Amino acid sequence: MKIVFASNNSHKLMEIRSIIGNGCELLSLGDLNITADIPEEEPTLEGNALAKARFVKKLTALNVFADDTGLEVEALGGLPGVKSARFAGENCDSSANIDLLLSMLAGNSNRKARFRTVFALIYNGTEYIMEGIVDGTITGERKGGKGFGYDPVFIPCGSTKTFAEMELSEKNMVSHRARALEKLYAELNRLNGTCYK
Ligand code: IMP
Repeated sequence: MKIVFASNNSHKLMEIRSIIGNGCELLSLGDLNITADIPEEEPTLEGNALAKARFVKKLTALNVFADDTGLEVEALGGLPGVKSARFAGENCDSSANIDLLLSMLAGNSNRKARFRTVFALIYNGTEYIMEGIVDGTITGERKGGKGFGYDPVFIPCGSTKTFAEMELSEKNMVSHRARALEKLYAELNRLNGTCYK
């Protein structure tokens, strides 16, 4: 079965391709020559994931899923959350976002945080929402050179390493995206029966 992942993020595509089952052929927006800017203006992860999936669904006859992910830090009332990509400003990179996060948490002993991924699937015209969460803590400084985004400052519960110190296969065993993907598989297998892992 062919399914479109409504994203241009090559890291996420790589992560999902490394997990996806044999029964699914994952197509990117690039594969479909879709170059339009996908809106991400909703106040929640669920709203954004659904808006992205609906936007791309208008451009293709194939089934579509989209994701939105946020880092939710307890001591910051859930920030950066839906603003994770542009926490430090509209055109800021991950490094600036991490700098801001660490400065806002400086001296704070509550380092609890979680990554939350929401997938919105549009399958044969029906919409489904799935969520994956990984709990963890924010370090005092960056560690590791792998991964992307906030990976260098996030240690998942039960580990001593940040996501950026892990091989992709290790991150995939516990990550928010992998957990949301498990639920996506379960839903696709229920609906279609061929997207097995
Ligand atoms: P997006 O809107 O789903 O692309 O995610 C928003 C932001 O969350 C990204 O720009 C990254 O900074 C961060 N993010 C998403 N997933 C991850 C991850 O697996 N590790 C680290 N940061 C992530």
